[in-house]
Amino acid sequence: MRVSRRAALGGLVALGTLATVRSTGLGSSALAQTSERFPNPLMIPPVLHGREEAGRRIFDLEAQHGTTEFFAGRKTPTIGVNGAFLGPVVRAKAGEQVRLNVRNGLDETTTLHWHGLHIPARADGGPHQTISPGVTWSPEFEIKQKAGLFWYHSHMMERTGAQVNAGLAGPIIVDDDESQALGLPAEYGIDDIPLVIQDRRFRRDGRFDYLSAMPDVMMGFKGDVILVNGTVAPHFEVKRRRTRLRILNGSNSRIYTLGLSNNQQFTQIASDGSLLERPARMRRLQLSPGERAEILVEIQPDSTVRLMSYPDRSSGGGMGMMMGMAGNDETFALLELRAGRLEGDAPPLPERLIDVPNWNPARVDRKRTFVLEMGMGMGMMGGGMGRGMMGGGMMGGPGRMGMMRGGMTINGRTMDMERIDERVRLGATEIWAIRNASPLAHPFHIHDIQFRVLDRNGRPAGAHEQGLKDTVLVDPGETVRVITQFTDYADPVRPYMYHCHILEHEDAGMMGQFVVV
Ligand code: C2O
Ligand code: CU
Ligand code: CU
Repeated sequence: MRVSRRAALGGLVALGTLATVRSTGLGSSALAQTSERFPNPLMIPPVLHGREEAGRRIFDLEAQHGTTEFFAGRKTPTIGVNGAFLGPVVRAKAGEQVRLNVRNGLDETTTLHWHGLHIPARADGGPHQTISPGVTWSPEFEIKQKAGLFWYHSHMMERTGAQVNAGLAGPIIVDDDESQALGLPAEYGIDDIPLVIQDRRFRRDGRFDYLSAMPDVMMGFKGDVILVNGTVAPHFEVKRRRTRLRILNGSNSRIYTLGLSNNQQFTQIASDGSLLERPARMRRLQLSPGERAEILVEIQPDSTVRLMSYPDRSSGGGMGMMMGMAGNDETFALLELRAGRLEGDAPPLPERLIDVPNWNPARVDRKRTFVLEMGMGMGMMGGGMGRGMMGGGMMGGPGRMGMMRGGMTINGRTMDMERIDERVRLGATEIWAIRNASPLAHPFHIHDIQFRVLDRNGRPAGAHEQGLKDTVLVDPGETVRVITQFTDYADPVRPYMYHCHILEHEDAGMMGQFVVV
């Protein structure tokens, strides 16, 4: 039986706990900020440094079932890595040789993908590297990255959304000498804090509610409770004048437009795969699923500021209705930052952070185009779709999901594990143009490499996109061009993936495969 969102949250609130957001029952996906209190200390994930053995750094990870009390007295069955929900920070340094022993302690098959890492396809943890229950998979590779925040998560074919929703994900931090020389805040848990932002829905009995509503696949699954590092309604006691937040949008589909409640500026210093060339001051930062950003926040002593998400005004263009349906039009708080007396100061930042690798668009070996479409789904939506649909009118009808399958395509095809869609020559520099011919924004992610964003509909990429990236949001009607080089690892048989990082779209087939030969 399906319990409505409002009923579920009502039950939870009645227990004396507060959710960050809850459904306002407006007949749309609108969420409202309802909490005035942030009673729960932010969970800081433990860090796994691994052990050294014969010149390698070895990490032991186990995917396991657990139970988590997000709300007092309500037990939620969850999946975690070395714990009940989510996993530790896996931390390593550029140049190190690592081995990750991944034991599957679950009762279902899974995979663990190292999102953003430049590694051989056999070690990638994509849909082909399945791990059966009870089995340990031990990929080995060199950390060949710029410093940054990456992450691991399930990439199980057609089950990624469900397994990540249950908690099968965690952060990876890569360090390097170059970044450590910059004097950026770097004391983990003190002034250097990872934030894994996710949204969830709960049933009355405490269990997660996933894919119970028909639009969950087409629009992407949206929850009405925000978790930060698995904490509901969290606060963090700020200790220094300047705090570094390493933010991962680990949500299945929700896009956040981050900002501070007093509208003060913050400084972005990193994007997905590296520091930026130079710090970028801003008031708003959009982060789509799979994307990362590191920001520096300077907080006044004896003050309280909230990290917020604001309505997404950039995507959708004339598609206001669709945007509303996509559920990215709410204002709510993610985290309360509380400052008392503060240590340290906030000296001027270096004007230049690092040299970010770049490639010359005039000298590429090959250009490819990827067209994202939601064909069948949109055909179905043609008949009198409106906001009322979100109110439950079209939820869960038999066959609706079936009509959705086959609609999520890249270049007219849904994902087929037996089909290689693209062959890339080792060493080639390529421009990939991603064209969104659907009415919803899609975060496009490419395995193996880090890219630079060249332009959006011919206009140069924004200041926040100057770093290396592996995931880029493509708005409806937009063509985003990225440039990259496919180095080091070739494998004629085992492919890498490219896909929409809205996990419901990925699971529904908006994914393709390429080999490097
Ligand atoms: Cu974050 Cu193909 O993955
Ligand atoms: Cu990935
Ligand atoms: Cu998508």
